[in-house]
Amino acid sequence: MITLARKANNALKFAQAWRHNLGYKLGRLDVTVSARCNARCMMCNVWKLDKQAREKMGSELSFNEIAKVLTEAAEAGVSSIFLSGGEPLMRPDIIDIVAFARSLNISAVLFTNGLLLSEEKAQQLIEAGLGGIAVSLDSPEPGLHDEIRGVKGLWQRAVDGLKHMQQVKLARGLIAPTIHLHSLVTKRSLQNLAAMSELAENLGVDGVVYLPLINKTAKAGSDFGLDEKDYSVLAGLPGFVKPGHYKNHLCLEPWFKLTMDPFGEIYPCCFAMPFQNADDSLQNTFWGDSDRFSLGNVRDSSLLDIWNGEAMRAFRGQLHEPPQFSMCRWCNYLPREPFCKLEGILKTIPQTNQRDAI
Ligand SMILES: C[S@@+](CC[C@H](N)C(=O)[O-])C[C@H]1O[C@@H](n2cnc3c(N)ncnc32)[C@H](O)[C@@H]1O
Ligand code: SF4
Ligand code: SF4
Repeated sequence: MITLARKANNALKFAQAWRHNLGYKLGRLDVTVSARCNARCMMCNVWKLDKQAREKMGSELSFNEIAKVLTEAAEAGVSSIFLSGGEPLMRPDIIDIVAFARSLNISAVLFTNGLLLSEEKAQQLIEAGLGGIAVSLDSPEPGLHDEIRGVKGLWQRAVDGLKHMQQVKLARGLIAPTIHLHSLVTKRSLQNLAAMSELAENLGVDGVVYLPLINKTAKAGSDFGLDEKDYSVLAGLPGFVKPGHYKNHLCLEPWFKLTMDPFGEIYPCCFAMPFQNADDSLQNTFWGDSDRFSLGNVRDSSLLDIWNGEAMRAFRGQLHEPPQFSMCRWCNYLPREPFCKLEGILKTIPQTNQRDAI
């Protein structure tokens, strides 16, 4: 149990890091391993990037390059990585990435649409020491899920994949990986929330994370798009953060984590990654301003140099007030407990970029 004195000490240390725009604790790194995808989801444009468009952004990091970043991350104290994409199972070396993270005592959590989650893959992932998996399942109705994801039969493949994971885990008597469902909530699925929870219970997963549709994506028309009234229905769901939350609240994320895109570019959060946020023409990012959030590339600098480098400190410097970037309007990151409770005090602390003053 954390004592009162320890809590006060942590709060003080955080306030100092806050003041100087220096990271507090790099605990998690989101590693977006691939920009490729084998689904055709209506709410996401990643799959529309063809080979040519991806090559314009650079080449995806090799296993050795990812291993170097993970080694630096472990040295910096990172204890967990989220492996996402695109579709991370499209990388032939994904098992090696999980195993390498494990060898560094980093717990890897994998986000997948489940299309490639065969029995063999489930075995390999578990043998490699996967810490957790989140399989996307957007509806208890197979037809609606397949329609949203643009792939016939994907609902069944995702459920089968999840069962393979459970069977291997059970057969080996393991407590890891944790197995969660990630469920997109659209206007059409609102009346199915109870059925979704029931399905999750029947499947015996560790939990469901509901992801309300970020409306600013392709084809999210009135049939799917959520409005204010819908948000009040969703307010009771665990982990639900109402779009617009950060209009009036401080964002503390960049004091705790970083996000890397498949090309080695580092960003303060996944919402800032241009490749995930392209519009239908694939010319512009949805937010219009993602480019300027790049903090450096791991091919040119070490992760630690980027973590407290000039660009990251300048970015943190802009967060001493509630963030005003267009991407933040849709941000669904959970407020960072317990430090978010300090926001009244934090707003009164004058910032300085003098590193040696700390
Ligand atoms: C970007 S995907 C990457 C992992 C994998 N391809 C998948 O679909 O699970 C991670 C999660 O983001 C969710 N997502 C994608 N577009 C979204 C949107 N417009 N609004 C809310 N969630 C979205 C997906 O449903 C998925 O659960
Ligand atoms: S949500 Fe996932 S599965 Fe769907 S297109 Fe995007 S990256 Fe691919
Ligand atoms: S989108 Fe904005 S509020 Fe959300 S983590 Fe990124 S910077 Fe913070």
